[in-house]
Amino acid sequence: MPITFNEEKRIFKIDSLDSTYAIGIFEQNFLVHLYYGKKIPDDNLLKLAYRGGFASISPNVAGCSDNEFSLDIQPMEYSCNGSGDFRLAALSIKDSGGHTTTDIRYIGHRIYNGKPKLDGLPSTYCNTDDEAQTLEIDTLDSFTGAKVTLYYTAFKNVSAITQSVKVENTGSEAFEIEKIASCCINLPSMNYNMINLSGVWSKERTVETRHLAHGIQSVASKRGSSSHNHNPFVALVDDCGSEDFGNAYGFNLVYSGNFAIDIETDYFECTRLVMGINPIDFTWVVEPGESFQSPEAVMVYSDCGTGKMSRTFHELYSENLIRGTWKKKKRPLLINSWEGSGFDFDDNTLVRYAKQAKQLGCELLVMDDGWFGYRNRDDSSLGDWYVNENKLKGGLKSVIERVNAEGMEFGIWYEPEMISPDSDLYRAHPDWCVHIEGRPISPARQQYVLDMTRKDVRDNIFGQMYDVLSKNHIAYVKWDYNRAICEAGSMQLDKAHGKEFFHRFILGTYELMDRITSAFPEILFESCSGGGGRFDPGMLYYMPQAWCSDNTDPIERLTIQFGTSMCYPASAMGAHVSASKRAGIKTKSAVAMAGTFGYELDPNEMSEEDKALVKTESEKFHKYYNVIHYGELYRLIAPTDDEFKCAWSYVAKNKTEALVTVIIKNNTPHRFLHIRLKGLDPDKMYRDNDTDEIYSGALLMNAGFNFTDGGLEMGDSIVKYFTQA
Ligand code: DGJ
Repeated sequence: MPITFNEEKRIFKIDSLDSTYAIGIFEQNFLVHLYYGKKIPDDNLLKLAYRGGFASISPNVAGCSDNEFSLDIQPMEYSCNGSGDFRLAALSIKDSGGHTTTDIRYIGHRIYNGKPKLDGLPSTYCNTDDEAQTLEIDTLDSFTGAKVTLYYTAFKNVSAITQSVKVENTGSEAFEIEKIASCCINLPSMNYNMINLSGVWSKERTVETRHLAHGIQSVASKRGSSSHNHNPFVALVDDCGSEDFGNAYGFNLVYSGNFAIDIETDYFECTRLVMGINPIDFTWVVEPGESFQSPEAVMVYSDCGTGKMSRTFHELYSENLIRGTWKKKKRPLLINSWEGSGFDFDDNTLVRYAKQAKQLGCELLVMDDGWFGYRNRDDSSLGDWYVNENKLKGGLKSVIERVNAEGMEFGIWYEPEMISPDSDLYRAHPDWCVHIEGRPISPARQQYVLDMTRKDVRDNIFGQMYDVLSKNHIAYVKWDYNRAICEAGSMQLDKAHGKEFFHRFILGTYELMDRITSAFPEILFESCSGGGGRFDPGMLYYMPQAWCSDNTDPIERLTIQFGTSMCYPASAMGAHVSASKRAGIKTKSAVAMAGTFGYELDPNEMSEEDKALVKTESEKFHKYYNVIHYGELYRLIAPTDDEFKCAWSYVAKNKTEALVTVIIKNNTPHRFLHIRLKGLDPDKMYRDNDTDEIYSGALLMNAGFNFTDGGLEMGDSIVKYFTQA
């Protein structure tokens, strides 16, 4: 049983494959965190929460018989604001009198097989009910009537637990939620390194590591989306831990809007992590009888460093987050028009692309930005989702038929949440964009944002998209989102609900995505946000892949893709070979093959030599597809750890094949490139498919393999394929 309740000791134990998470019900029905880490068999856990000897300055709980019990020092399972716990609060509710003291106590619980869906929000799911168990713990703040239910789901096949929180108003007066975290984690030490993925446009998700310090350290977004700058992911790793050793805890929020992950180390040198919707620019009014659902937090535990943590995330997201037709279906080898042609194309350009790309092994042509309204630059037409017949002569149907006749499928670009001031939609509905009455609207990329909190707006965009997608044979949609939100306001939200805007915006986006993707289950959707500005598990729930970055330089991509691989699988990482000059086709392909793989260049501009190379690489995409997309990632040398090289491998789950890639980042004087492999079966024999030499898994993992026999230069790469002999 993954989840048990010990009636006598009043302890919940939540076991996933290899981890245990434990909570105790203490005096006066406070929920106290007991343990999170490697699986343990014990029930005698109450002492784990003991923190005696606190100063008299810390408040006691009124009426509590245990003088040593103070909320100021206990590892509270779901910490509340204002009632004596002065560290990070997970929950703060403002009552009708304007007070924000919040105090929740256990009132009951349920344990059952399976996992419930979250109302209006993306979340992980069970394929069958016996894959996971769920615990719902009900608590009550008897002063406001806030019934706060904590949801925990433990997966049996992976060391992953999810958490979310629902607040229901069972009282007689409205209250306001000022802060609601999706999880609150307490660890009894501060000897951890914090890993987060920071970045900027064109350099997203770079791994950053720091030792926890006293005080609060955080990553967050206030941009309206998860952002290029911070990903809703953090790992805490033993300070002596690494890629392969030590305890590693990974936390990821299934949410695409404003988020905050705060980590506080306290006066006992313990750590608390609180992750959820960013409380800045957020409140939610809950009327009697209404409820509010938080997004879902995913927590992964690994006893073997960040490598195993990432593999667990990949497995969970591939099996229990990504959905639909394309969950396991082989993705097409696509070519996208953006980097090759920008806005400057017509029907004949696209047909030329298709004809040439087909010969190179491509299967799908994506017509990127610029096909609609009268858009020839980025200054018009967003919101006018009908074809520009001056560009695509004969209309969309005709160009699709011509592309299909070349043996290629057709894909299309949208930016559904945006509106250009120079558009028919804006002229007809100037109140439909995000704005505050009387204030100027700040443009970004010459565009405004559509007010996705409004149903009429969503209905209009749904209708326009439905019209195009239902009348044409379209196999793929790229869903872009190219700016941050400011002057956040909606004409339909009154004063009391103004600060609900950002969360309502993302709920509206999710609703639209749900409607479109459900209406067209056969279409492959790829999310995008000016490159990788919305690469998060919320998006992956609706769309199985996301464009990783507008930076397609293969050397710079290494850092971006390595960071992305911390929690997102290769099948989700949009990666293309472009015309960038820093390396040849072979190396660019090797890097793009660590993701979905495709091309982003004008195939008619390529030399004959490059065309021949592209053909070979396209064949490799098919050959290696299974080991990359269904195998397991072992990071061998991180690009940030080594000046000269970077290496990784994909190993089939049954250990019968492995694909190893080494990229040379800088000119190197080395004539010797010995790398120890990982993840193989030491008892199996493996054939080097280039030389037919046979080695044991034990040798390859312990002695290593020499990947070069000569000089290597920046931009070179070596790809080795080993199969069981
Ligand atoms: C940003 C995306 O990241 C690019 O790939 C491209 O689709 C442009 N938008 C188009 O405007």
